Amino acid sequence: MPGTELYGEAERKEVNEVMETGIFFRYNHDAQRNGIWKSKEFEAEVKKVTGAAYAHAVSSGSTAVSTALAAAGIGAGDEVIVPPFTYAASVEAVLFVGAKPVFAEIDETLCLSAEGIKKVLTPNTRGICLVHMCGGMANMDEIMPIVKEHNLVLVEDAGQAFGASYKGTKVGLFGKTGCYSFDFFKIATAGEGGVLVTNDEAAYKLADSYSDHGHDHVGSNRGMEQHPIVGFNYRISEIHAAIGKVQTSRVPEVMQRNNKNKRLLTELLSKTEGISFATIADPEGDSATFLNMFLPDTAAAKAVVDELNKAGVGGFNYWFINMYHFINQWDHIKQLKTASKLAVEVLGAPQDYVNLDLPKSQEVIGRLISFGIRCTWTEEEVRSLAKNISACVEKVLAPVQNV
Ligand SMILES: Cc1ncc(COP(=O)(O)O)c(C=O)c1O
Repeated sequence: MPGTELYGEAERKEVNEVMETGIFFRYNHDAQRNGIWKSKEFEAEVKKVTGAAYAHAVSSGSTAVSTALAAAGIGAGDEVIVPPFTYAASVEAVLFVGAKPVFAEIDETLCLSAEGIKKVLTPNTRGICLVHMCGGMANMDEIMPIVKEHNLVLVEDAGQAFGASYKGTKVGLFGKTGCYSFDFFKIATAGEGGVLVTNDEAAYKLADSYSDHGHDHVGSNRGMEQHPIVGFNYRISEIHAAIGKVQTSRVPEVMQRNNKNKRLLTELLSKTEGISFATIADPEGDSATFLNMFLPDTAAAKAVVDELNKAGVGGFNYWFINMYHFINQWDHIKQLKTASKLAVEVLGAPQDYVNLDLPKSQEVIGRLISFGIRCTWTEEEVRSLAKNISACVEKVLAPVQNV
């Protein structure tokens, strides 16, 4: 959790500036706020890190995905391709804009694959919600031609990959709109927060209005503003934005330190037979928040998880059964257990969600164990972790190798 690892005086100073004005609202109150506009400054930092022409901060990564979908024109009845490995928010956002999720296979990049996307394309496919998982990125050279050929709307959920890039372009900027999460667990945190990015002015304006009850934010009198569209309240507060601003400015340094630690851990672990790693589509662009390790199969991965737990080695996720990021844990979504009817329940689901056939995703996530990289690790800590992981893997695989 590098964002919270480096929390300090700078965050306190920025928050105090907001406390002193007493203006926690991101809009208006020009006279009282004494030139303090933390949300705008947070957005400026995000633009600096990503190179996006436009950035718009909202209340969470989840509301950023909803805003990104809506601003890209995805709405009721649209079929949107989604991965089975993501935080559930990506799928929930598709459902809550009234669209219909269509699950496709991921590959060893841990993201949707071109092959997986092609398999589920139909004349009704409107877009793709492409999620860049675990600090890495999808293979954009393979995915973009499909987007173009089929005239699809690409929305990128880079909730877990702020700062990552593919061949020089930051993830989040390949599609019509993209977004990042700044929740408590990310490379930079605002406490709670999310940011939408785009290079499309019209999409930015839609996002700006959509996330604040349709307000056009023209002028300095909120009561007299126009409402070009219907929107809702996804606003970020100035206090959250103040924290997000400082944390975002640290990301280039955090990524450098993450990458150094991840490189050493990878080098040490690669000496152990039976360990391999997830594909990083562009190693130069890795935000390196996770080291994603593969075991030969699901049974071996489960046994290694048991050994790690027995040995007291922490700091890893086994998404296949332990976490809320894989479709196997989403019975409520698959069975569409809802508080009130969603559009997909009225219009009909495009797939039988309960009986989905996604063998490649099951195989990939079954053998994946992800270790969170800490930017504050010392070299000795990395070496000791590698030694402990290798010992657990060797214990599990040794009997098999000796047969
Ligand atoms: C890929 C992805 N998208 C969206 C979200 C939602 O972000 P938040 O927790 O800020 O709402 C997350 C959070 O973990 C995520 O990992």
